[in-house]
Amino acid sequence: MRIHIFNDPLELAAAAAHEVACAIRVQPLLRLGLPTGSTPIPLYAHLVQLHREEGLSFQQVTAFNLDEYLGLAPDDPNSYSYFMAEHLFRHIDIPLANTHIPHGLAADPHAEAARYDQLLQEPLDILLLGINALNGHIGFNEPGSPWDSPCRVVELTPETRESNAPHFPGGLAQTPTQAITMGIAAIMQSRRVFLMATGTGKAEIIQKALHGPQVLALPGSALQSHPQLEVYLDKAAASLL
Ligand code: GLP
Repeated sequence: MRIHIFNDPLELAAAAAHEVACAIRVQPLLRLGLPTGSTPIPLYAHLVQLHREEGLSFQQVTAFNLDEYLGLAPDDPNSYSYFMAEHLFRHIDIPLANTHIPHGLAADPHAEAARYDQLLQEPLDILLLGINALNGHIGFNEPGSPWDSPCRVVELTPETRESNAPHFPGGLAQTPTQAITMGIAAIMQSRRVFLMATGTGKAEIIQKALHGPQVLALPGSALQSHPQLEVYLDKAAASLL
């Protein structure tokens, strides 16, 4: 793995966006995996800036999000679909048909997960990834997720719901209990993985995920086995390394 440490989240975002932009310029048909959460927001802002100011084009890029809550419509302001439109897709030139996110209101969520898994059979070229501070989940692969797991319907753990509740106006009561997530198999098959973490709140989980034992209880520890892992940290998140 290669670990890059930056002074602050904005420097990190600029560097990660630059890498993504270079990859798109070299390979316009890039298959790009995308996360949600607060960590990637400055990176998305930077990609939008590169599109506006330097003409970076996403016309031929295909994007695959990691996960979506079950029970939320794509236009629900709390859905990941809405998040992606707000922070990235509506500000760049990516065709809507090239943006893929599991459908949170699918009539048959298991069939929807299987459909999404099919889309991921061809490896992603770059997968951007965050990690949960409390339990180390990647996507919504919760502790105990097998490392060969496919895209599937998952139950969210109490720790995950607690972490994500602040994003919902109705707090924990409004936080969904299930999601569809890309599996660890597709994450590990991605040609390059960029793991991003910022802030002191991530320092302990980053230390354990990167240098602790590889255990199912910490899904992010699977990434130690990835042959092309790039870790993007700010000083705070790297403080226990
Ligand atoms: C959610 C997403 C994860 C993401 C995590 C971290 O749970 N499903 O993919 O890694 O949030 O979020 P944050 O970046 O806000 O810490």
